[in-house]
Amino acid sequence: MAAITIIGTNYVGAVYAAAFADLGNQVYGVDIDPRKIELLSQGISPIYEPGLDELISRNLKAGRLRFTTCYDEAVPQSDFVFICVGTPASFNGEADMRAVRAAAETIGRTMRGHTIIVNKSTMPIGSGDLVTSIVQEVKAPDATFAVVSNPEFLREGSAVHDVFHPSRIVLGAEDREAAERVAELYSALNAPILITDRRTAEMIKYASNAILATRISFINEIAQICERLSADVKVVAQGMGLDPRIGPLFLDAGIGFGGSCFPKDVKALSYMAAEAGCHPQLLHAVLEINQDQRRHFVHKLHTMIGDLHGRPVALWGLAFKQDTDDIRESPAIDILRMLIQRGARPRCYDPAAMENARREVPEAEYVDDPYEAVVGADALLLLTPWNEFKQADLARVAELMRQPVLLDGRNLYDPADVRRLGFRYAGVGR
Ligand SMILES: NC(=O)c1ccc[n+]([C@@H]2O[C@H](COP(=O)([O-])OP(=O)(O)OC[C@H]3O[C@@H](n4cnc5c(N)ncnc54)[C@H](O)[C@@H]3O)[C@@H](O)[C@H]2O)c1
Repeated sequence: MAAITIIGTNYVGAVYAAAFADLGNQVYGVDIDPRKIELLSQGISPIYEPGLDELISRNLKAGRLRFTTCYDEAVPQSDFVFICVGTPASFNGEADMRAVRAAAETIGRTMRGHTIIVNKSTMPIGSGDLVTSIVQEVKAPDATFAVVSNPEFLREGSAVHDVFHPSRIVLGAEDREAAERVAELYSALNAPILITDRRTAEMIKYASNAILATRISFINEIAQICERLSADVKVVAQGMGLDPRIGPLFLDAGIGFGGSCFPKDVKALSYMAAEAGCHPQLLHAVLEINQDQRRHFVHKLHTMIGDLHGRPVALWGLAFKQDTDDIRESPAIDILRMLIQRGARPRCYDPAAMENARREVPEAEYVDDPYEAVVGADALLLLTPWNEFKQADLARVAELMRQPVLLDGRNLYDPADVRRLGFRYAGVGR
């Protein structure tokens, strides 16, 4: 059993705090947001993440998990301190490291004895050195420490499953013993463990996200070509995916990738590459194609129903993907904004992300029921592939709309089925 502090308790940190406690450790979750800490202390997750409330409650009750806004309460008695704060993109694509710097400084000031600091946030190559120098400068003279990079690969929406069934544990350290001690924390999970140097570990995270984003932009480019040449990208992807060298995952054409990771990490990698004197043409293209998909989708709507000014349009889905309330860099939010700019009257529904969307785009209309969103609408845009939408009663939808036009941004529906119900239907690349 180890004493662990998790700094930053949101999509990554809240899940890890609860998961490490569940594995039998004594865990403190620390966040600067008192609202989150209050919710977490009552066993309520601050984010929508299936299974998380239960995991938190169980470990609070067992006395293995505590939450606080106070570093002093947690860090001095911890063997391991995980940095899980946000590293969003700044205006030029560079990762914004302000939260990491602030966390490192406060850890440095509050730690006692020997502490292993673990960088779990996605941080630019060289951040291990940065955290080391910040901590070194402010720490008490007798405090000692090591910094280990341990990038995270969990997916929102299945985060609780993913932390207990990781595809691999990547550890980067200059101090091998420190990496091995972190590896022990994961020993119950039976995952492959790769120990390397810190910079290589940091790069593994960026390169992993970049290739996943690349596959999506690749299939979206193929989708555009399929549309012009009358082929069906969904079947193309299926046929490609049967080749074991290619595989079926991350070949879903649609309105592009979003979320708090792929866009920002591709931008940050591209920024780092350019700073280092490289010319990352592929990464630029990946981002450009991704933006194009959104514009192309709105253009398609325009082609199908004409001028958007004053037109009621229903949006199903606002989250960047299903099973999350996260709307950061969501293509659906981008599309919503484009519709508003063109004078359309969007009416939106999402099973989990409405509160976040309302804060971000207050000028749109939000309704609590998917069928209410389509009443009198000139088109329905399917933007997030929630199960609820897959199982929707589309015959009823067709009846409620002013004209049954369906733009399927995720190729969720079977075109023939939908057309049989009387819809004018367009997917992506089919
Ligand atoms: N979200 C994901 O699916 C995912 C997956 C893998 C890796 N990551 C990476 O993990 C990191 C965290 O991601 P996230 O989505 O949980 O971020 P987030 O922005 O949702 O949450 C960060 C949390 O840190 C808190 N915080 C900020 N500064 C702090 C400080 N100085 N001290 C204590 N708490 C502080 C914030 O209040 C917030 O609750 C990012 O680097 C991200 O790229 C995220």
